Amino acid sequence: MEQTALMSAIASDTLKGLTSSPKYLLPRYFYDDRGSRIFQKIMQMPEYYLTNCEYEILMTERDDISSYLRDKNDPFDLVELGSGDGTKSMVLIEHLAKLKSDFRYFPVDISSQVTDDLEKELNEIYPSLNVHPLIGDYFEVLDELKEMTLNRKVILFLGANIGNFSDKETNHFMSKIGNITESGDRIMIGFDLKKSPEIIMNAYNDPHGHTRDFNLNQLRRLNRELGADFNLSEFEHHSEYDPESGDVKSYLVSRSDQVVHLSYLETVIRLIKWEPIFMERSRKFNTENIRTLAEEHDFKVEKNFTDSRGYFIDSLWVKR
Ligand code: AVJ
Repeated sequence: MEQTALMSAIASDTLKGLTSSPKYLLPRYFYDDRGSRIFQKIMQMPEYYLTNCEYEILMTERDDISSYLRDKNDPFDLVELGSGDGTKSMVLIEHLAKLKSDFRYFPVDISSQVTDDLEKELNEIYPSLNVHPLIGDYFEVLDELKEMTLNRKVILFLGANIGNFSDKETNHFMSKIGNITESGDRIMIGFDLKKSPEIIMNAYNDPHGHTRDFNLNQLRRLNRELGADFNLSEFEHHSEYDPESGDVKSYLVSRSDQVVHLSYLETVIRLIKWEPIFMERSRKFNTENIRTLAEEHDFKVEKNFTDSRGYFIDSLWVKR
């Protein structure tokens, strides 16, 4: 297949990743239906502290957060990137709605299933709330959004999703955010913090086998959607934490010399025994990293909201 432009994004991204050296796949393709369900299981593990921490922050601080977001009570547009099933953000949305805040809610997700359910649920509880799901890749949707509204914007990017980005991707993301925001607009970003490496490793490496499943599921997806023939039992899952960079990196490592056919792409790839495929980065930050990132992109940290253990921060920024 030579017309790359006609290939689906998953096909061209996969082809690019598996023909690169070192090989990699992209975290955004974890979340087919089955992958989303496995991720739910990850979030329910006691060792995966991130979800509980952020839930605690939003429950405990919802009043304070809401008053920053409502500002002077002028109308605003609340844009949530990667809303998922919305369990955590719902805490905030419901609180804002209860306070009779004048806002429209734009959940953005790659899966329309997810945002449709969210819209239905919110319409039942708060019929007067304006919910406008936007389906697609964050970066593309952010461009469309700029044209759509003149209201003050508040962007939510929760759940430590920013941890998936490399430096380059973070800067790309932040410059997109810069393009669609104006002075006085806000963004709140969920950051998982640097902490004892042992605590971090327990969350990723891999007490119940769910993280291995989650990673292998992307290969299963490629088998189905790209006609590939990955042999799932020939891969080992491996994660490691580098306390210096703050990166957790996870890999699927080939147990043997393998030839994999990507039949819809008419391509064959080879894995050498013990060769890794880089699957995901889950970066950890400290308050200094957070402040630097905000300031480099013309935002000011308005307030850091943290949990009782100090494991996680929802950092609220306002554009200068
Ligand atoms: C959804 C990107 C925040 O990096 O912690 C969890 C995904 N991967 N366990 C994370 C994930 C393995 C998660 N994020």
